Amino acid sequence: MATVLNIAPSENKVSSFVSRTHKMLINGKWVGAASGKTFDTYNPATGEVLSRVAEGDREDIDRAVKAARAAFEGRWSQLTPSERGRLIWKLADLLEENLEEFAELESLDNGKPLKIARVADVPLAVDLFRYMAGWATKIEGNTIPISVPYAPGAKFLAYTLREPVGVVGQIIPWNFPLLMAAWKLGPALATGNTVVLKPAEQTPLTALRLGELFQEAGFPDGVVNIVSGFGETAGAALAAHAGVDKVAFTGSTEVGKLILQAAAGNLKKVSLELGGKSPNVVFADVDLDAAIAGAASAIFFNHGQCCCAGSRLYVENKIFDKVVEGVAENAKKINVGPGQDESTDMGPLVSAEQLNRVCGYLESGFSEGAKAVAGGGRLGDKGYFVKPTVLVNTNEKMKVVQEEIFGPVVTAIPFSDPAELVTQANDSVYGLAAGIWTRDIQKAHRLASQLRAGTVWINCYNIFDAALPFGGYKQSGWGREMGHEVLEQYTEVKAVCTAL
Ligand code: NAI
Ligand code: MG
Repeated sequence: MATVLNIAPSENKVSSFVSRTHKMLINGKWVGAASGKTFDTYNPATGEVLSRVAEGDREDIDRAVKAARAAFEGRWSQLTPSERGRLIWKLADLLEENLEEFAELESLDNGKPLKIARVADVPLAVDLFRYMAGWATKIEGNTIPISVPYAPGAKFLAYTLREPVGVVGQIIPWNFPLLMAAWKLGPALATGNTVVLKPAEQTPLTALRLGELFQEAGFPDGVVNIVSGFGETAGAALAAHAGVDKVAFTGSTEVGKLILQAAAGNLKKVSLELGGKSPNVVFADVDLDAAIAGAASAIFFNHGQCCCAGSRLYVENKIFDKVVEGVAENAKKINVGPGQDESTDMGPLVSAEQLNRVCGYLESGFSEGAKAVAGGGRLGDKGYFVKPTVLVNTNEKMKVVQEEIFGPVVTAIPFSDPAELVTQANDSVYGLAAGIWTRDIQKAHRLASQLRAGTVWINCYNIFDAALPFGGYKQSGWGREMGHEVLEQYTEVKAVCTAL
């Protein structure tokens, strides 16, 4: 994407933003938590305190929901679709103008390499807002010819309207903090909803900074409210709130099920984007170099902290050793370090909790007989770094093959029979994504149709676009994000029938 960026010197802006005690955005005002409490966020490269943030809870969520309701019924509903679209476009412009600052904040808060945040996280968020800005004026219903059997001869004019669902609660994770905020906010606003967004407690900073841009862009008060806080408190209160019409969640499958239970109280609409354990299949006829590089980046991108990470690598027997060796070599060459160093390819995991979780999986794999041909454990003793790891000698029963590790760990598994491969690849409670590497287009498309996954990448991996729908089969979730599909999750259909 060729764009002219107006990159301001951002270092001072970033350090002054980080050193603030952050408030929450409720009804257009920056306010502390009702309880007065705050919590610390950490720099994952050092484990040291990075910033302090208001600790929102039930009371703050309640205030935010009321503000969102007032905005939904007031100023926001009076704007034309074109005005809504222009506000979203303006927000995208502001985000692009502040690209460097957002990339630095994201890198500090999440740990990811600054050079990645600059070319992926922030530009994808900008693009998503622009894509959704365009949709604001294109949310259309249909006219429907009807043939009511018990009203012979009667004439009707029947049509549908697409209306916003109302007040939407959005709960997002820490792996792509800004981008997940964009994926959620863009379609909700384009379709005319108002929002209470709860960022992850590990990474609230870019969402809070984005809140300032919403104000600068001129969004009416209360349209976007941002409440920082923990999942079990603020998140749970948002999912259960009777004044919320829809909840959209991205995170663990375990919490997705809790969201569903919490939503049952008022039967609010639910969309979920959950975990994955995605198969990445390499056939022997492949362009070997491309497949090796692709298999490595499928798992190691974002330190494996991707719901769609290609974490189960299936390689046709004939080339198994070569591919494993290539991916292992690739893993060993990855420069692991603090995200702010320009030479860093992979940063730390997001938190001590995730470090322990991933290392726990590695130990469980080793105790069951898995072998690491690269990596295999923590790197250093400061910060939350894990070595890029390639495991072999695994089988379908092992936890490392069945469960989402959410770290830079791939299990490589040989196959010979394509029919068995389909069964193996689909042998998962998840169904988010899959990869296929082959030169044979028939084989590729046949397998694509057999895989139970919301996204299938052929001879590529981790390709995202605002226009491409993303979401899961099975326990990977409900509904789709992005593309025009997401608009259905944020609108109600009203059928209007008139006797003529
Ligand atoms: P999580 O699912 O607990 O957290 C995600 C979001 O949900 C955060 O904003 C959190 O505050 C909120 N949350 C937590 N408990 C809640 C509750 N009871 N009610 C409402 N909101 C709640 O994920 P966590 O603990 O950070 O990571 C655990 C595992 O989840 C990871 O190892 C990974 O396997 C998976 N995960 C998947 C993600 C994805 O993109 N699909 C993103 C993050 C984690
Ligand atoms: Mg959790």
